[in-house]
Amino acid sequence: MLVHAFLSIALATLIRESAGKITASVGEVNQTYDFVVVGGGTAGLVIANRLTEEDFTVLVLEAGGDHSQDMNITIPFFCQNAAPFTEYDWNYTTVPQNNLENRELVYPRGFLLGGSSSINYMAYTRASKEDWDLFETETGDGGWSWDAIQKYIFRNEKLTPPADHRNVRGEINPAIHGHHGVNKDSLPGFIDSFDTMVIQVSNELPEIFPYNSDPNGPVNLGLGWDLGTMFNGSRSSSATSYLAPQFASRQNLDVLIGARVTKILPSPNSTDQRPNFSVVEFLHNGDDLSVQTVTASKEIILSAGSINTPVILLHSGIGDTSELLAMNITPIVNASSVGKNLTDHPIVGNTWLVNSTETYERFTRNATKLAELVEEWNNSRTGPLVDTVVNQLAWLRLPDIDPAEDPSAGPDSAHFELLFANGVILTAPPAEGNFMGISAALVTPTSRGTVTINSTNPLDPPLINPNFLDTKFDKNAMRSAVLAARNFAAAPVFSDYIISSTTNSTTDAEIDAYIQSMAESVFHPVSTAKMSPADAEYGVVDPDLKVKGVTGLRIVDASVLPHIPAAHPQAVVYIFAERGSDLIKESW
Ligand SMILES: Cc1cc2nc3c(=O)[nH]c(=O)nc-3n(C[C@H](O)[C@H](O)[C@H](O)COP(=O)(O)OP(=O)(O)OC[C@H]3O[C@@H](n4cnc5c(N)ncnc54)[C@H](O)[C@@H]3O)c2cc1C
Ligand SMILES: *[C@@H]1O[C@H](CO)[C@@H](O)[C@H](O)[C@H]1NC(C)=O
Ligand SMILES: *[C@@H]1O[C@H](CO)[C@@H](O)[C@H](O)[C@H]1NC(C)=O
Ligand SMILES: *[C@@H]1O[C@H](CO)[C@@H](O)[C@H](O)[C@H]1NC(C)=O
Ligand SMILES: *[C@@H]1O[C@H](CO)[C@@H](O)[C@H](O)[C@H]1NC(C)=O
Ligand SMILES: *[C@@H]1O[C@H](CO)[C@@H](O)[C@H](O)[C@H]1NC(C)=O
Ligand SMILES: *[C@@H]1O[C@H](CO)[C@@H](O)[C@H](O)[C@H]1NC(C)=O
Ligand SMILES: *[C@@H]1O[C@H](CO)[C@@H](O)[C@H](O)[C@H]1NC(C)=O
Ligand SMILES: *[C@@H]1O[C@H](CO)[C@@H](O)[C@H](O)[C@H]1NC(C)=O
Ligand SMILES: *[C@@H]1O[C@H](CO)[C@@H](O)[C@H](O)[C@H]1NC(C)=O
Ligand SMILES: *[C@@H]1O[C@H](CO)[C@@H](O)[C@H](O)[C@H]1NC(C)=O
Ligand SMILES: *[C@@H]1O[C@H](CO)[C@@H](O)[C@H](O)[C@H]1NC(C)=O
Ligand SMILES: *[C@@H]1O[C@H](CO)[C@@H](O)[C@H](O)[C@H]1NC(C)=O
Repeated sequence: MLVHAFLSIALATLIRESAGKITASVGEVNQTYDFVVVGGGTAGLVIANRLTEEDFTVLVLEAGGDHSQDMNITIPFFCQNAAPFTEYDWNYTTVPQNNLENRELVYPRGFLLGGSSSINYMAYTRASKEDWDLFETETGDGGWSWDAIQKYIFRNEKLTPPADHRNVRGEINPAIHGHHGVNKDSLPGFIDSFDTMVIQVSNELPEIFPYNSDPNGPVNLGLGWDLGTMFNGSRSSSATSYLAPQFASRQNLDVLIGARVTKILPSPNSTDQRPNFSVVEFLHNGDDLSVQTVTASKEIILSAGSINTPVILLHSGIGDTSELLAMNITPIVNASSVGKNLTDHPIVGNTWLVNSTETYERFTRNATKLAELVEEWNNSRTGPLVDTVVNQLAWLRLPDIDPAEDPSAGPDSAHFELLFANGVILTAPPAEGNFMGISAALVTPTSRGTVTINSTNPLDPPLINPNFLDTKFDKNAMRSAVLAARNFAAAPVFSDYIISSTTNSTTDAEIDAYIQSMAESVFHPVSTAKMSPADAEYGVVDPDLKVKGVTGLRIVDASVLPHIPAAHPQAVVYIFAERGSDLIKESW
């Protein structure tokens, strides 16, 4: 008995001393840390990992839970099941979109460790050299240029073999990829005749759809393979990589899940004339939602993403003074750019009925077959579920664009993107038929939107307005992208494959109407707390990611991007977070 009690005490001490944990209990976290990271998402977990390499204590507050082992998160093909309106989602929708028949669009955001990297479609696309060099121009900081960020690419990326271990010569240039980084990626791991047909178009129509043997180089234009943040047929998120057990167990790192941050407060002890942010208020879902606080003795890092970072800033009095006063929130600093300049990629699906039985419909419409494939995935990490729903992407430019009106980052950067799918995706397939999908996305939108709060209650959903297709350029470019998808489908390789199109819109007006009724978001919101030169009047953070007008506060997530890259943004967010970690370390 005595021995048993002694052992329990020894064990309890051992557990307490091996601090460093993922916990759902507020009683297990300390009152003060060097750094408090708000949001355990894509960027937040990079910061937590890199800062705890040093002798700093770090607390991550994450509103969602730990779901890294759930099949709808781990199985790449089930990325479609992860959101919207699931336990992994913030369940947001947009306000009615004026240019899209006033539809309210779904707007998923990851509500779990890993954030949106745990629910996204895993495309790993770095953006072009020109896009990065534009970040330098926009911020006046050479540290954000393509050449300067190369080392951060290699810290983040670990290229791994595809699940089928095939020879990938010609599909990728390993020399330009990281092989020793933290987050794993790989090429698709289940290849069939549809993949071969898509690539064949680059031989048949090389002028329009040239083959790019590695779109992650300085020039991303052309048709190429879609590298994904996956390993051995499973998702690699910031939760499975940067918060892998060997990092989560660090003595100086605590991660509290179920902790929803409502606002941040300046220190009452500040000696500087600028407000010095150091207190984080949150509600913990295990504790009757009573308000808790924790103090950062060095800095608070906001990594709540492009929607919730501006929401937290506004509730904390960091926003446009007159807008805050109108909401009865006491302004602390007039940061009039907070929530402005929201930029996102619109996308529209195009579908053809095809003469094949080898499309996704063979298992998306057959529960028995799907169960067999899950079994196969479980046993050997093989079969069609090892891939997301898209294996190739094409990055393309509008022909004959007036350079004076060109919103792209330069002549080697895309205006629009085509995404190829071997079947109907995102919705249940029709009762009959087999399909092919080519989605078209506008990647240099000129429309700008907003995100703002709708009440003083931090638990109320925000008003999200990406303001899609608000400009003539965007409307015309989207129509050109749809026409390019049709040109692709008209390639000889599909002549005996396609039976018919599922839409018969032909005139510009009909195509525009089709787009208005079908367009959705690719879920790439950025720039709602944008970075600008230190002395610029607009913008929320300076080139060191410090919030202007205050101390003790940085933002590291997609909200700071100075413009939307012509790319799926997660790789850019990882790279920003790797450099952001270095900037924070340099300050302390
Ligand atoms: C469905 C979907 C598909 C996508 N597909 C791709 C793709 O294929 N390729 C690609 O490159 N990009 C893709 N993206 C975009 C990409 O995933 C995001 O741009 C990127 O992950 C954003 O990272 P972040 O760190 O800014 O935010 P997030 O990763 O979203 O992290 C924010 C974190 O903060 C937490 N949080 C928010 N508010 C609070 C609060 N008040 N208190 C505590 N915690 C809070 C959230 O729960 C979340 O964990 C996709 C996004 C979605 C939603
Ligand atoms: C996965 O998602 C599917 C589709 O939404 C759902 O039917 C299923 O219950 C989910 N599985 C789990 C284990 O949550
Ligand atoms: C979103 O909805 C799901 C399903 O109702 C729920 O489980 C989840 O908690 C919701 N997310 C948030 C942030 O409330
Ligand atoms: C929390 O506080 C205890 C007691 O002071 C300390 O031993 C531990 O290292 C702290 N944990 C972290 C992650 O800072
Ligand atoms: C302010 O100073 C007091 C007294 O030194 C200290 O107890 C408290 O933690 C400080 N508050 C913050 C937010 O730093
Ligand atoms: C802000 O307060 C923290 C302690 O909470 C302190 O370490 C830091 O030096 C202060 N910064 C400024 C600029 O006063
Ligand atoms: C806040 O800043 C904006 C932009 O600089 C300016 O137009 C506005 O007048 C300022 N508001 C106040 C109350 O100072
Ligand atoms: C939006 O971004 C542009 C370009 O960086 C900038 O000129 C403008 O001032 C920004 N708008 C706001 C409200 O911050
Ligand atoms: C489908 O292809 C088969 C041969 O592979 C052919 O016999 C049949 O007529 C085709 N069906 C249609 C609708 O084109
Ligand atoms: C569904 O899949 C099962 C198992 O592979 C197969 O036996 C059956 O024929 C399929 N049903 C249809 C309608 O294709
Ligand atoms: C990949 O997954 C399979 C099936 O779980 C497992 O047997 C194998 O060891 C894994 N390979 C690697 C490299 O992790
Ligand atoms: C915003 O608040 C108004 C007034 O309370 C409410 O009617 C509306 O539904 C809210 N909008 C959203 C998106 O929650
Ligand atoms: C084709 O156009 C006709 C007449 O406008 C319409 O009734 C029909 O639904 C359209 N078919 C498709 C597949 O869109």
